[in-house]
Amino acid sequence: MSMADAPLTDKRILLGVSGGIAAYKAAELARGLAATGAQVQVVMTQAATEFVGPLTFQALTGRPVRIALFDAAHEAAMGHIELARWPDLVLVAPASANTLARLAQGRADDLLSTLCLATAAPIAVAPAMNQQMWRNAATAENVATLVARGVRVWGPESGDQACGDVGPGRLREPEDLLQDVQRLLLGGRLTGVSALVTAGPTREPLDPVRYLGNRSSGKMGYAVATALAAEGADVTLVSGPVALSAPHGVRRVMVETAQEMHDAVLARLTGCRLFVAAAAVADYRPLDAADQKIKKHADELQVELIKNPDILAAVAARPDAPFTVGFAAETENLARYAEAKRRTKGVDMIAANQVGAGLGFDSDDNALWISWDGGDVQLPSMDKGRLATRLVQLITERLHAQAPAENPR
Ligand code: CTP
Repeated sequence: MSMADAPLTDKRILLGVSGGIAAYKAAELARGLAATGAQVQVVMTQAATEFVGPLTFQALTGRPVRIALFDAAHEAAMGHIELARWPDLVLVAPASANTLARLAQGRADDLLSTLCLATAAPIAVAPAMNQQMWRNAATAENVATLVARGVRVWGPESGDQACGDVGPGRLREPEDLLQDVQRLLLGGRLTGVSALVTAGPTREPLDPVRYLGNRSSGKMGYAVATALAAEGADVTLVSGPVALSAPHGVRRVMVETAQEMHDAVLARLTGCRLFVAAAAVADYRPLDAADQKIKKHADELQVELIKNPDILAAVAARPDAPFTVGFAAETENLARYAEAKRRTKGVDMIAANQVGAGLGFDSDDNALWISWDGGDVQLPSMDKGRLATRLVQLITERLHAQAPAENPR
C-alpha cells in the first residue's frame, strides 16, 4: 500500500516503546507513521532508552519523547492525564514480556503503563521477545487477559531471533504494523466486498475407504482468507479436508471432492466480487467409485479416471464473473506456463509458485510470481501469512483500479 493511498493526516498516535533489541525497529515505524501524516508522540520506558536514544525518535516525529511519569517540565506542557486523552490509538511496539505483564496487571508505576490505564483510546501491542518467553504460560495468560479486555495483539512473527533462537517472538514488520494501524483507524480497504476462496486438497473416492488426494496443506488459501478478512472483506472459504481451524471472522464450508467444491462455489457466486482459487483441485477422479471396499484379488488393478470440472475456469467464464485469481504450481518455465494458464482460463490475476523438492505444498514459506494484465511482480520467499498480505494488497489495488462501469456489483 502506498502511503498516499491511506493517509493518516491528523490522526494522533501514541507510540509506546518498551525495552528490547527490537526497539530500533520502532524508529522505522515512527518514521512510517509520521510519513502518513499522523501526529506521533513517542513514550519510552526507561529500559527502551538503553536500546535507542530518545533523540532518534524526536528527530523522526518532531516531538520530544516522554519517558518519566513525574517530569515537571513535560507535565506543565501536557500532563499525563491530558496525554492519555490525546491519542486516537495507543500502539506499544515493541511490547516486551515485562510490559505485557505490567499492562495485564494494570500497573501505573511508569508513564507508559499509566497512559495505557488512563486512556480511552484503543490499545494495540506488538510483542517482541525471546521465543521461550513468548511461549511461557505466564506471557500467554497476560496476552489472553489483554485480548479479553479488547487490546489488539499484532504479531509476533516467527523466525530468527537476535539471541540466536528460532521461533515466535519477532516484532511484526514495521510496514505490516503500519497497515494494521491504517486498517484500525481508517477501516479495511475491502469493506463491503464479498469474496470466495477455495483452499486445501480434494479427495476423489476410489471406494468407501480410499481416495485419490494430494499434499496440499491448505495453508496458503487459509492465509489468503485471513488477509482478506483483515481488510474487511466478507469471506467465505470453501475448503477441502485440512488440519487447520477456520480463520477468525471467516465463514467456512467444508467439502471433499472437486465436484462438491465446484457446486459449493457456484452456489455462492451471486454478489461475489472476488474469487481466489487456492485449492489444489484433483484434475481427475475415478470414473466409478466402488460401492464396497475393493478387495486385493487381482494382480493388476485398472482405475479409469475422468476429468473434473475446472472450478476457476468455470467461474472466470461466467458473464457475471467476479475478479478472479488463480494459482499455478510449476516445476519449470514458471512465468511462461503461468501466463499461458492465466490466458487460457481467462483469469484476472495468477500467482505462480515453483514446486518440487522442499518447495511449496506443506512448507510455511513460499515465493510467488504474480501477474495480471499490464504488470507482474516477484515476491521473494517469506512466511505464507505475509505473502498472503502482499497478494491481497495487489488484488485490492487491481480491484479498485477497475472502472466502476466494468464492475457494477
Ligand atoms: N483449479 C480449479 N479447478 C480445477 C483445477 C484447478 O479451480 N479442477 C484452479 C486451482 O485452484 C488453481 C489453478 O486452477 O488456482 C491451477 O490450475 P491448474 O490448471 O490445475 O494448474 P496446476 O495445478 O498448476 O496443474 P497443471 O500444470 O497440471 O495444469
